[in-house]
Amino acid sequence: KIDKSGMIEAIKNMPEHFEEAKRLTEEFMKGIRIRNILNVVITGLGGSAIGGDLVRMFIAPKATIPVIVNRDYFLPAFADQNTLVIVSSYSGNTEETLSAYDDARLKGSRLIAITTGGKLKEKALEDGIPVLTIPPGLSPRAALGYSFIPLLIIIERLGIIPGGVSREIEDAIKIMKEARERFSPEVPEAENPAKGLARQFHKKLPIIYGSSGTTEIIAMRWKGQINENSKAPAYFNIFPELNHNEIVGWDGPKEILKGFQVVILRDEGDYERVQKRIEITREIINDKGGEVLEVWSEGGTCLARMFYLIMLGDFASVYLAALYKKDPTPVNLIDLLKKRLS
Ligand code: PA5
Repeated sequence: KIDKSGMIEAIKNMPEHFEEAKRLTEEFMKGIRIRNILNVVITGLGGSAIGGDLVRMFIAPKATIPVIVNRDYFLPAFADQNTLVIVSSYSGNTEETLSAYDDARLKGSRLIAITTGGKLKEKALEDGIPVLTIPPGLSPRAALGYSFIPLLIIIERLGIIPGGVSREIEDAIKIMKEARERFSPEVPEAENPAKGLARQFHKKLPIIYGSSGTTEIIAMRWKGQINENSKAPAYFNIFPELNHNEIVGWDGPKEILKGFQVVILRDEGDYERVQKRIEITREIINDKGGEVLEVWSEGGTCLARMFYLIMLGDFASVYLAALYKKDPTPVNLIDLLKKRLS
């Protein structure tokens, strides 16, 4: 009842967003000729940047040139005419992203824009920059399919990774279709892992731990979705780095620590030494009186496992919003901040 603007529907439709985004991008790429690229910078913020991070993580083991994500007003100094800058903004009106677009123009970089419209589309059309126009009407974070799939296909078509992502995309679509049945509002809490997670997070501070190269960006996504959809604070960190700093915090005051709910995202692709670190860390946190849950990814291919966990976190964030009696869609504090900046 509280989900007035249909966030659950948008999350449920992620598999169809994948299909439509694939079709749109394949069509778009027919008109694109880009050669002699030495590196790629994906620039954007929030919901429009995380698709870039997921692509960066997914392609890292096979990418032949550096691909980075930039979340700033300006591009890194190395960006030049051999850089492909992919500017991603769902609204097309994000201040930092528009500034990074201008910086790319100044540096003479090659450009592609992905947006629903706004000033970004206006500028790009004026400058003769190719625009991949994606469907409007969603929250940027609910449009993940439209930020992730185009980036992945563009990178594959430019030969930055060896050909053939279609099977992985099909597998991810299949697992997401299964996941949405299991996590849907009609499934009662006792049988619904997403509702179960929301209950565990309720009135606690969620701390999500992922692992480098497998679940790190998914942990970031869960944190962001809890912040924006549930209107609640949440934090994330990454193995093995957190074993070199954050773990020491568990020696802290018990009255603070008992307010935390840790979730460790686990994946069969985690490096064996990282798996060992996870198990020891869990024991240490438990010994200190902390609450730890483990959530394993499901699905065959790497992409399917990633998007299974993303669906789970997305659904859980909306159920947590319901427990806090919040509408998941509006982001009033982002709007307030933008108003004060203007
Ligand atoms: O999900 C959201 O609403 C935000 O994180 C936005 O993505 C962020 O503010 C950037 O806006 P846009 O995606 O329109 O560039």
